[in-house]
Amino acid sequence: MPDKILPVLTIDGPSGSGKGTVSRMVAETLGWHLLDSGALYRAVGFAAGMEGLDLSDSEAVTRCAQTTKIAFHDPGDGSETRVIVNGMDATDELRTETCGAAASAIAAIAGVRAALFDKQRAFRKAPGLVADGRDMGTVIFPDAGVKVFLTASAEERAKRRHKQLKEKGLGVTLAALLREIQARDVRDAGRAVAPLKPAADATVIDSTGMPVERVVAAVLELVRKGRD
Ligand code: DC
Repeated sequence: MPDKILPVLTIDGPSGSGKGTVSRMVAETLGWHLLDSGALYRAVGFAAGMEGLDLSDSEAVTRCAQTTKIAFHDPGDGSETRVIVNGMDATDELRTETCGAAASAIAAIAGVRAALFDKQRAFRKAPGLVADGRDMGTVIFPDAGVKVFLTASAEERAKRRHKQLKEKGLGVTLAALLREIQARDVRDAGRAVAPLKPAADATVIDSTGMPVERVVAAVLELVRKGRD
């Protein structure tokens, strides 16, 4: 069983469910690699924007996904991983709502998902991988030993995002964020290719009202049990 040699923990869920933070903390605790698959989709959305492509032009955006060079650079000083897109540090741009919306749009293109398939699988390295995304347990690593589907109410996710943006000095209203999150949920869950849904063998954790430490502890417990 490949999983015995190279264990994978998949953490899927909608935006704002806390899976980015939880995945990072779990990967740090276990000393495993981390795949932030959303950053790959954001990077393609960003590159397509830089090229001035029409995001509904599937062929052009697929070509862009096939040719865009995406690299993750860990500064090694505890500060956040930088994402380099075609040689340019795009870390800050990738986090914007504009890039998130572009990522969500291009993620619906089958050719884009196919172009990113091998790139994502290549993250599976010793001693193990925490894979954060939407289809990690269903499509990319269906043989993962432990699968988590992390969710939270749309209101809670909008509140979390609002707090983050306020801390960064960005003014967006809570109502606008809630509308955007609900629209993205519908788009991500309703698309024909790799829709957002829990894998049949995933453990669903609803983090509404749960401190992040408790979610991390629950995930680590699942990994521990999976090893028994
Ligand atoms: O997790 P995130 O918000 O950074 O992801 C940005 C978009 O990319 C999200 O709207 C859906 C898409 N995505 C995807 O379709 N599949 C993944 N594995 C990760 C992200």
